[in-house]
Order: sequence, then C-alpha cells, then structure tokens
Amino acid sequence: MSKQATSSRPTGRLAGKVAWISGATSGIGEAAAELFAQEGARVALVGRRLALGRAIATRINRRTPGAALALGCDVSSERAVARSIAATVKRFGRLDIVVNNAGMVEIGDLHRYTEAQWDRVMGVNVKSMFFAFKHAFPHLRATRRGYVVNVGSISSFVGQARTPVYTTTKHAILGLTRSIALDYAAAGVRCNCVCPGITETPMLWEHLNVRPDPRAALDERLRRVPMGVSLSPQDVARSILYFSCEDSAGVTGTSLTIDCGYLTAAEWQCAGPTAFQQRT
Ligand SMILES: NC(=O)c1ccc[n+]([C@@H]2O[C@H](COP(=O)([O-])OP(=O)(O)OC[C@H]3O[C@@H](n4cnc5c(N)ncnc54)[C@H](O)[C@@H]3O)[C@@H](O)[C@H]2O)c1
Repeated sequence: MSKQATSSRPTGRLAGKVAWISGATSGIGEAAAELFAQEGARVALVGRRLALGRAIATRINRRTPGAALALGCDVSSERAVARSIAATVKRFGRLDIVVNNAGMVEIGDLHRYTEAQWDRVMGVNVKSMFFAFKHAFPHLRATRRGYVVNVGSISSFVGQARTPVYTTTKHAILGLTRSIALDYAAAGVRCNCVCPGITETPMLWEHLNVRPDPRAALDERLRRVPMGVSLSPQDVARSILYFSCEDSAGVTGTSLTIDCGYLTAAEWQCAGPTAFQQRT
C-alpha cells in the first residue's frame, strides 16, 4: 500500500482548518458545525446555551474525535467574544474561518420599541460581527487565507412586517460585509454574506407557534415561494461552506440569496404541487 493511502491526515474541503461559529447551538449554526466537522475542520461552537453546545460537541466528537469544542458566549459582549476566540486558538492552535450566524428577532412596532430593545437586537445581530472580526483578524491574517461568512437574510433586501430592527440589522450586515471585503482583501481575508429565506429552525417555529395553527401558517407563507418549499438548516450550511473554502476562490464582498425563489417575484401565488414538494 502506498504511503499516501495509509495516511491518517484529515480529508475534506476544510481539512486542517479551524472555524469559530456563533449561534451553533441550534438551527443553521448547528448544521454548519456538523458539516464543517465532516469536511475535516475543527470547530468552536459558540453560543449562550453552553449545555446545549456541549451536547452537540459530544455528538460531533463521537464521529470525528477532537473536532468540536463548545464555548459559552453572549456575542453582544466584546469581552465574551474576545475570550471565545482566544479559547478557540488556544485549543486548536489557529483560526481560519469566522461564521457570524447568531441572531435574534424582536417583533413589534417601531414607535413602541424601547432604546434597550433596539440596542439588544443591534448588539446581537451586528455589533457582534464587529467584535468577532476585530478579535479574529490577527489570527486570520496569520493564516494568509481567512474566511468571514456573515448570515444575513432575505430581510437584507426587503422589509418584513413588524420587525424593524431585525430588518435594519440584516441590511447593515451587507454594508459591513462589503467594508470588510474591501479593507482586508490585501491581508488575504475574504468576506461574504449568506442570505436565507424561510428556513425550518427554532427561530422560525418561535414565530409560527404563536399562530393558532403553526403548520397552516407555514403553508400560507410557502404559497408565496415559487419552489413551494422551505429550506433546511443543512441547505443553508452548504452555502456557508461554499464561502468558507476555495470553492468560492475569487469571491468577496458579495451575498448569496438562498430562498427557493422568494425574492424573484413581487407577487406570487404558488399553484402547487411543485416538483420540489415531491420527495425524491
Ligand atoms: N430561520 C430562518 O427562516 C432564517 C431566515 C433568514 C435568516 N436567518 C438567520 O439565520 C441565523 C441563524 O438563525 P436560525 O434560523 O438558525 O435560528 P436559531 O434560533 O436556531 O439560531 C439562532 C442562534 O443564535 C443564538 N443566539 C441568539 N442570541 C445570542 C447571543 N446573544 N449570543 C450568542 N448566541 C446567540 C441562539 O442561541 C441560537 O443558537 C440568524 O442570524 C437568523 O437571523 C434565519
């Protein structure tokens, strides 16, 4: 057998890379952490809910020993973000990829918002990205190939009813993405944004569960979607992976909308059934 065939070096698109993923205790972040580990990366799962993070890390480590580390962190705190990045580098020895995925929504009317509510959503959804970049940059620069992936939304492009601060933050993320891309290209950092549509995660169900019939409420929303289906967290995670490796070489400062066609039409009534609704 050749020397190469017996090598135990990790394989995959992220072999040898280290990723810091915020909001990795559920939904899209959790799916990204799983996928990144499968692709050979070592991953810091960063989130407020440490027990949940540890359970997910244990599951990942069962399949890929030593690949996952859970870190408790409120991303709206600069100190906490700085600590989590330092802990990631201490454990894994480097940092190549930052996925700014943590996010929150507050539903309400702008004239009734308090300053504290405004600051909280801004802090979690946008300021956290500034903190993560600031403290990750020295490590990203050291690798000479750094990847920053910010999670926006279809609300990065259009308004969404009764979520004025969320919509503001998601628009702001596009500006921050372009600024980082521009100012840090020379240092070897690429920065891009993934903008998901309706994705079946706890965040979505939190909204739908306040409706009398959550499933019917989702079906009603999906009638506005040309493909007639929602996204899975894994669908979005694959787009995050694309921006986190050389599959997207040459791409920076851009966004990828992944929304089953939602934003392609000003108005749409899905006649259904669509080919995408039938299981393959
Ligand atoms: N689900 C959708 O339909 C959808 C659509 C567009 C964009 N998004 C975006 O996707 C991202 C992930 O959301 P999701 O849908 O997976 O929902 P989710 O609720 O499963 O994930 C959000 C994660 O962020 C974490 N988080 C919230 N506040 C935090 C804080 N202060 N510090 C650390 N972590 C914090 C939560 O604990 C959670 O793990 C968010 O940025 C969201 O805006 C989701």
